[in-house]
Amino acid sequence: MTNPNTWSQRFETALDPAIARFNASIGFDIELIEYDLTGSIAHAKMLAKTGIISEEEKEKLISGLEEIRKEYRNGEFNPGIDAEDVHFAVERRLTEIVGDAGKKLHTARSRNDQVGTDTRLYLRDKITKIRQYLRDFQTVLINLAEKHVETPIPGYTHLQRAQPLSLAHHLLAYFEMFQRDWERLGEIYQRVNVSPLGCGALAGTTFPIDRHYTAELLGFDRPYANSLDGVSDRDFAIEFLNAASLIMVHLSRLSEEVILWASQEFNFVQLKDNCSTGSSIMPQKKNPDIPELVRGKTGRVFGHLQGMLVLMKSLPLAYNKDLQEDKEALFDAVKTVSGCLESMTILFREGLEFRRQRLEEAVTEDFSNATDVADYLAAKGVPFREAYNLVGKVVRTCLASDKLLKDLTLEEWQDLHPKFEADIYDAIAPQQVISARNSFGGTGFDRVREALNVAREMVKDDL
Ligand code: ARG
Repeated sequence: MTNPNTWSQRFETALDPAIARFNASIGFDIELIEYDLTGSIAHAKMLAKTGIISEEEKEKLISGLEEIRKEYRNGEFNPGIDAEDVHFAVERRLTEIVGDAGKKLHTARSRNDQVGTDTRLYLRDKITKIRQYLRDFQTVLINLAEKHVETPIPGYTHLQRAQPLSLAHHLLAYFEMFQRDWERLGEIYQRVNVSPLGCGALAGTTFPIDRHYTAELLGFDRPYANSLDGVSDRDFAIEFLNAASLIMVHLSRLSEEVILWASQEFNFVQLKDNCSTGSSIMPQKKNPDIPELVRGKTGRVFGHLQGMLVLMKSLPLAYNKDLQEDKEALFDAVKTVSGCLESMTILFREGLEFRRQRLEEAVTEDFSNATDVADYLAAKGVPFREAYNLVGKVVRTCLASDKLLKDLTLEEWQDLHPKFEADIYDAIAPQQVISARNSFGGTGFDRVREALNVAREMVKDDL
């Protein structure tokens, strides 16, 4: 009897076609092929080094695996559903190319440690790429901030005008978030970078393999210490999805701000034609599609994190087929985060312009200098709470007569409190209000310039 399946002679009949489709992962795990080949080459080298296969067999295996890599890159390797997954697809093709030697590759290995190895190699690579995307975006934020140290922007709490800010300070707040993301991914990388290869199906193997050698060949820091843990651990995937979710949180908050700023109500930024789209019916419109898409895509990344947590929560040791479900979540999260970072980098580099004049007007048309009036009195010895109450009253009177603080005459000020003098007008001018906040981490121009210098140094760090 010929075996109808890829598996052993234990099976008498072929898999139901619908079940075969349901079971197969080749439709998506082909994404892992380059990592699968690299992992298999390391495994073959180890098998020869430990005398499990001959040098000649090793050479055959490696040349066959490299041949498959070439075929794949030329678009000539397109396995179908019958291959089940990328691992079987490669093994089958390898045996076609190199004959019986191909059948030796799977000695002392299981698809369970193999897929774990592939996924870690894949994620390691993607983490490095995403960290580069983060660096690119951080650099664009710094460049933009440099142009806008003295450009004011209203600062908000509760989305109510609070105190004016240096626009650079606002942009650097995002720089800090992406710095944490960059660091976090670096930390996660260390836990991704552990080798499950050689854990076997779950218990290790009877062959005299050298797991430290394959770990070293593949650039892993060390092999997993426990074979059961090695084949069934997906903490690293959850940690990555968590980091990806936080990147999306940061991108989405910034997107929301751009969307608000681009509205007619705020009118703080102008979107350029290369990064905005029109409406099919309303000819006057220019829509902020990029930040809207980024905000929208955030949901799917959160979804993958949640999905992965639920996937793992009741899994008994060790490998279970449930784990095949980790891949699409990871692949999609990687693609989504990369695409969002890339697009936002372009948007901030060349797709929008802050309306400086409008921003300068904006900070003069409100009461966001009220704290400074209270601070003015407090600096002259009036207890802050007393000063605060007095300014509250002033604001109320101004509102009733449709005036701003800067419109009060010196007499009016002095009627309110004898400590007011002519320098009150300077104290409440927006530029002064901003530049006076020179406490560490504050929006004062000098502080912001210092922060920019520190940020410039930080992006040089590529570890
Ligand atoms: N395609 C499988 C996955 O992605 C490979 C591992 C299969 N292992 C098994 N024991 N059936 O998880």
